[in-house]
Amino acid sequence: MERIVVIFVISAVILCVCIEPKDAVIFKLTNIECYSYNETWFVIHKCRLKALRRNVAAFYFNGTAIYPAYNLHLHVQLLKRASGYKPFLISTVIDMCRYFRNPYNAVSKTLMDLFLDFTNFNHTCPYVGDQIVDGFYLRPEMFKLPLPTGDYKLALGWYSNQKLQFDTNASFQFVENLIDQ
Ligand SMILES: *[C@@H]1O[C@H](CO)[C@@H](O)[C@H](O)[C@H]1NC(C)=O
Ligand SMILES: *[C@@H]1O[C@H](CO)[C@@H](O)[C@H](O)[C@H]1NC(C)=O
Ligand SMILES: *[C@@H]1O[C@H](CO)[C@@H](O)[C@H](O)[C@H]1NC(C)=O
Ligand SMILES: *[C@@H]1O[C@H](CO)[C@@H](O)[C@H](O)[C@H]1NC(C)=O
Repeated sequence: MERIVVIFVISAVILCVCIEPKDAVIFKLTNIECYSYNETWFVIHKCRLKALRRNVAAFYFNGTAIYPAYNLHLHVQLLKRASGYKPFLISTVIDMCRYFRNPYNAVSKTLMDLFLDFTNFNHTCPYVGDQIVDGFYLRPEMFKLPLPTGDYKLALGWYSNQKLQFDTNASFQFVENLIDQ
């Protein structure tokens, strides 16, 4: 019994050390790809990255939902570049209508908290009209997931009525702070 407890405590300590959130020295958007698969419903007017200063780039988005959507699911995938992008760490589906009624998923909350200051997309269903992201940039101090240095893609696939309607994919560079630890 005691041995089990000891093993448990040791594993817990190892786990805590390994997944200790790290500061990043660079956490920067490098590319954005948007595509509407259904322009009857969703039209993308703007999807652009603009360099603000060294290692800071801002994302501007303007898309219109022509009809109200009463269900919207977001497929979130985090991929890491290693001779092509490979699935990494996260692949999850968020029910957006439910999420904004009551944030229920820790991973998505971490991602959303980075984002909500920059958008009018911060409410529950229905979604209709202009969906704006205005100058979103990554803030290392707000990112609480442990991530090794690398190039990543956050692929966001937006589904309504079980069909993929549009993609907003963001590539970013993440460089761990290995000095101040
Ligand atoms: C977004 O990323 C996913 C996953 O890699 C890919 O299947 C999809 O084609 C990408 N969409 C665009 C618009 O590049
Ligand atoms: C495109 O969107 C319209 C309006 O919401 C919908 O009626 C139609 O079924 C959608 N088409 C596809 C292929 O999802
Ligand atoms: C978004 O694009 C639409 C269509 O071009 C335009 O009417 C609207 O003013 C734009 N909104 C913003 C905030 O730029
Ligand atoms: C959503 O954003 C608007 C303006 O950006 C803000 O006034 C409003 O309080 C926000 N709502 C929520 C639920 O965060």
